[in-house]
Amino acid sequence: MDHFVIVGRNRLSGKVNISGAKNAAVAIIPATLASNGICTIENLPNIEDVSNYTLALKKMGASCKFLDKSTLQIDARKVKSTLLSSEMLKDMRASYYLIGALLGRLGHAQVPLPGGCNFGSRPIDQHIKGFEALGAKVVIEHGLIKVTADRLVGSNIYLDMASVGATINIMLAAVHAEGVTTIENAAKEPHIVDCANFLNMCGAGIKGAGTDIIRIVGTNHLKGCTYAIIPDQIEAGTYMISSAITGGDVTVCNVIPKHMDSLTAKLIEMGCDVRDGDDWIRVKADRQLNAANVKTLYYPGFPTDLQPQMTALLACASGTSFVTESVFPNRFQYVDQLMRLGVKIKIDGRMAVVEGPARLTGADVIAADLRAGAALVMAALAAAGVTKISNTHYIDRGYEGLEYKLSSLGANIRRLTTGDLSSVVEV
Ligand code: EPZ
Repeated sequence: MDHFVIVGRNRLSGKVNISGAKNAAVAIIPATLASNGICTIENLPNIEDVSNYTLALKKMGASCKFLDKSTLQIDARKVKSTLLSSEMLKDMRASYYLIGALLGRLGHAQVPLPGGCNFGSRPIDQHIKGFEALGAKVVIEHGLIKVTADRLVGSNIYLDMASVGATINIMLAAVHAEGVTTIENAAKEPHIVDCANFLNMCGAGIKGAGTDIIRIVGTNHLKGCTYAIIPDQIEAGTYMISSAITGGDVTVCNVIPKHMDSLTAKLIEMGCDVRDGDDWIRVKADRQLNAANVKTLYYPGFPTDLQPQMTALLACASGTSFVTESVFPNRFQYVDQLMRLGVKIKIDGRMAVVEGPARLTGADVIAADLRAGAALVMAALAAAGVTKISNTHYIDRGYEGLEYKLSSLGANIRRLTTGDLSSVVEV
């Protein structure tokens, strides 16, 4: 098992290139199953979720070839198997997209139910509501979700909440439904627009992605295409926060500044100097930052996936901050580990009260999930002394070369396997 060992208090500075978006990649890779041609996906991040998804498609009979570390060529025309095992998908959070993609392509699928996260259950009732509206029969038994449909017919679907996964999953099935499907109260995240743009490049008829009403005209033939995915707004936001928490001066490159608006506004409110250009954002924090209140919302609101990292930053700001998590019911389970580093925080249901500035000091901590791990890295960068973070495999799911990118900005961070830990420097 790997660990990150971080010696904190270095001010970060310089430029860091942002990789392709994880949550676009885990939607567009299964979306290639909707195509009857060869798809070349560019700007893929080199992360665990991409390699796991590629392995799963290969086991289903698709041919997958990396043309370089971030370009994957997929030919799914030979995919016939839709019986997927838990073993095959055990490490994939977003395996549920295979249901919509296979239902659309073959009219049936059998996929293990996605596991819960460390921040509560991950129900998929809205996904099922969409599949049934399109005419599919859905049965859940023995931990599997089995969907079958003699034919898929376009329908109007009104989501109970603006679910990212349900919006994408219904789109993946509806592209092959007869007639028109409308998804109302759709989610508007950038990766939804990216997935719709990919499918339209293959010849689909999707309009309105990025708004709360998406209209899909079904077709029975989609060709292959070459498509470059968007930059990762959450990775970009994490490095922006790393600059703010270390009093640094970091520029994130290859980003879409518009996607970062909610974080940029909050960092400016706290006292950061934030400038941007066509594809870069520079964050300078050369003064003591002030407390701020954060409420996570669906896009374009403040992203829930930056909530843990932001909470770590607020611990270092002067004053009392209130963080409200309104997307997931229980996404503060990571705070116990943050408190080991000196963060002063109280949780009351969906709200966290953060007192700052806290004097953070290094300690041994454990990452419970991807963004919780990122929050521990943020706090460790600001903490005096050595922090050892276990369970780095969670972080590797969503961050390409985190230790290399942070080291290039001046952080003192190393990845150690269990055997190396004896060489950890105590300071
Ligand atoms: C996606 O998860 C992302 N994952 C998550 O990122 C992200 O936190 C989330 O969207 C919100 O932006 C991927 O894209 C692979 P939702 P998803 O459906 O689709 C409830 C990361 O760290 N809900 O938008 O599962 C749900 O419980 C990950 O990159 C239902 O009740 O999220 C939650 O409270 C973590 N029934 C809310 O809706 C459903 O059928 C939003 O969930 C679906 C969702």
